[in-house]
Amino acid sequence: MNRTLGVLISGRGSNLQAIIDAVEQRRLDATIALVVSNRADAAGLQRARSAGIETLVLDHRGFGSRDDYDRALGAALRERGVTLVCLAGFMRLLGPAFVEAFPNAILNIHPSLLPSFPGLHAQRQALLHGVRVTGATVHLVDTGLDQGPIILQAAVPVLDDDDEERLAERVLVEEHRLYPEAIRIVLDGGWRIEGRRFVRGAAVPDRASGHAAVRA
Ligand code: GRF
Repeated sequence: MNRTLGVLISGRGSNLQAIIDAVEQRRLDATIALVVSNRADAAGLQRARSAGIETLVLDHRGFGSRDDYDRALGAALRERGVTLVCLAGFMRLLGPAFVEAFPNAILNIHPSLLPSFPGLHAQRQALLHGVRVTGATVHLVDTGLDQGPIILQAAVPVLDDDDEERLAERVLVEEHRLYPEAIRIVLDGGWRIEGRRFVRGAAVPDRASGHAAVRA
């Protein structure tokens, strides 16, 4: 697989930084061709500039419809040869046209153990629900909100005296570890989608039954 990434952000960009660091430290063999933000004031843009990565602000308010925005976004990424799109705190839903333009080639990171607590304020939802364990998830993006086949997850215990900020901080440590690793797994290939599942290992024909079997 071509290893050219586009990273989409809306804010702080700490996950973007984790990806930049992994590339610079050669833990991740990839190139970040473009960082796009829908907000001009996203702090993450400065992280990209400091790393010498091209940035683009695409403000959704300048577009007539979601489709128009998604088309412009897709074109900008394709022009730079992007083959894998990484959502890193990008606060916009992408429409079917965009998702279909990058089939199984859009990743997202979410601060909970999906399918629990999709959407906004995942850590607050976890605290309100009283779960003892939450975590982080990297998944392939489909047209649903925080859905799509799960690539990696990490668990984080919820402590009795946690507040949203403390919990978010510990989840974030796991996010930063997980995201570059999930990108590497996807880029290295040898996986497939079975129903909802992201399955690693090549399918090989099982000679006895003629059915596909999984080589670990
Ligand atoms: C992270 O918690 C990520 O899981 C969620 O949005 C937050 C973005 O943080 N999707 P950052 O901009 O990467 O620091």
